[in-house]
Amino acid sequence: MKTQVGIIGGGPAGLLLSQILHLQGVESVILERQSRDYVLGRIRAGVLEQGLTDMLRDAQVGARMDREGLIHDGFHLAFGGRLKRIDLEGLTGGKTVMVYGQTEVTRDLYEARDAMGGTIIHEAAEVKPHDIETDAPYLTFEKDGMTERLDCDFIAACDGFHGVGRKSIPANVLKTYERVYTFGWLGVLSRTKPVDDELIYANHERGFALCSMRSNTLSRYYIQAPVDEDINAWPDDRFWDELKARLPGDAAARLETGPSIEKSIAPLRSFVAEPMRHGRMFLAGDAAHIVPPTGAKGLNLAASDVYYLSRALVTQYGDADESGLLGYSEKALSRVWKAERFSWSMTMMMHKFPEQGEFGAKMQEAELDYLTSSKAAMTAMAENYVGLPY
Ligand code: APR
Ligand code: PHB
Repeated sequence: MKTQVGIIGGGPAGLLLSQILHLQGVESVILERQSRDYVLGRIRAGVLEQGLTDMLRDAQVGARMDREGLIHDGFHLAFGGRLKRIDLEGLTGGKTVMVYGQTEVTRDLYEARDAMGGTIIHEAAEVKPHDIETDAPYLTFEKDGMTERLDCDFIAACDGFHGVGRKSIPANVLKTYERVYTFGWLGVLSRTKPVDDELIYANHERGFALCSMRSNTLSRYYIQAPVDEDINAWPDDRFWDELKARLPGDAAARLETGPSIEKSIAPLRSFVAEPMRHGRMFLAGDAAHIVPPTGAKGLNLAASDVYYLSRALVTQYGDADESGLLGYSEKALSRVWKAERFSWSMTMMMHKFPEQGEFGAKMQEAELDYLTSSKAAMTAMAENYVGLPY
C-alpha cells in the first residue's frame, strides 16, 4: 500500500488532519489500533475554542456542531462562597467558546471521512514507523493476522500519549518535560439539567469541583479526588453530596441530581516532548503533549498542531516549499507551551494541594480575589480561555 501521508491514530487529531489534507488534494491513510466503537466510546472534554470551530467549519464538519453546540460567552469562578463571572465575550472583543463534546467532534469527522472515501484501517496492531530519517519512510502493521506495509512520503504520529510515534524518536534527540499531579478528577455524566447556563469552576477547601455540560439535558460534573481512589467507593449519592458541599449555597440548592450514566477517574498530568518532528515524522496532539483538563485545552492544542502541520504539508506538495515543515516543531511548541502554562496555572489556582498548608490556601484566595476584581487580570484569563491566535 502507498499514500502521501501515513497517519498513526484515528482520534480527533489524526481524523482532522486527514480531512483537511483531503480537501487540499493530499492523500492519507489512517492506521488506528482500536475499533471505531471503542474510539467513540471515550468521553473527553467538551469546550472548543473559536479557532477550532472555524477549522471544523472550513473542513466541512461544522454543521451538526453549529446546530447542537452551545455557544458560551462567559464562565464562573466560585470561591469563598461567591460566584464571579468571567465575561469572555466582553473582555476579548467578541470571542466565545463552543460547548460540544469531543466524542461528537470525532463522530462528525468519521462521517465526513467515510462520505469522502477516506481510508481508515481500524484494529491495526503493532504499528511501527521505519526509516523516518530517510526520504522513503514506511509503516508496518498487523491486520487480520497478516503483516502489511504502508509506504508514504511523511508520517504524522497522532497516536496519543501512549502511541508509538514519540517512542520511535531516539532518546538522545527527544527531551521530555513532565509534572504529575497527586490527584485526579472523578467525573460523572448524568441526564439532568445543568446547574447553570455557564460552566462553574469551584475552588473549595474540600477540593476543586467543575460543573460542565454536553447539552441542556446532559450534565458533566467533576470533583477533585485521590487518583488511586476506588470508583466503587463513590456511589452516586456520595458524589452528589460531595459536589454540593463544594459549590456556593445557591448553586448547590439548584443542583438537579440523577443516576450517573458514566463515572470515571482521570489522572492529571502536564507533559511536553520536544522536538515535535524527527526526520519525516511529525508528532501532533496528545502524542507530543498533555495538559491537565482545567481549562479544557487538550483537544484545542491538538487542533492547533493540525492547523500548522496541514498547512505545512499542503505548501510542501503544492509549492515544493518545505519551510512550513522545517518550522513546524518550533511553531507548534510555542503555542503548546503557552497553553501548558495556562492549564498549569489554572490547575494550581483551583485545586487543593496536600502540601499547600494554610498559607497556600490564602495565596489562592488572594489570587482569585485579585483576578475577579481586576479587568487586566480577567482579560488575560479570558484571552487564554478562548484560545490564543494560531
Ligand atoms: N497504533 C495505532 N493507533 C494508536 C496507537 C498505535 N500504536 N496508539 C494509540 N493509537 C490511537 C488511539 O487508539 C487513539 O484513538 O491513537 C488515537 C489517539 O487519539 P487521542 O488519544 O484522542 O489523541 P488526539 O487525537 O491527539 O486528541 C487530542 O485532546 O482532550 C484531549 O486527550 C484528549 O484525546 C484528546 C486529545
Ligand atoms: C468537560 O465538559 O468535560 C470539561 C469542561 C471544561 C474543562 C474540562 C472539562 O475545563
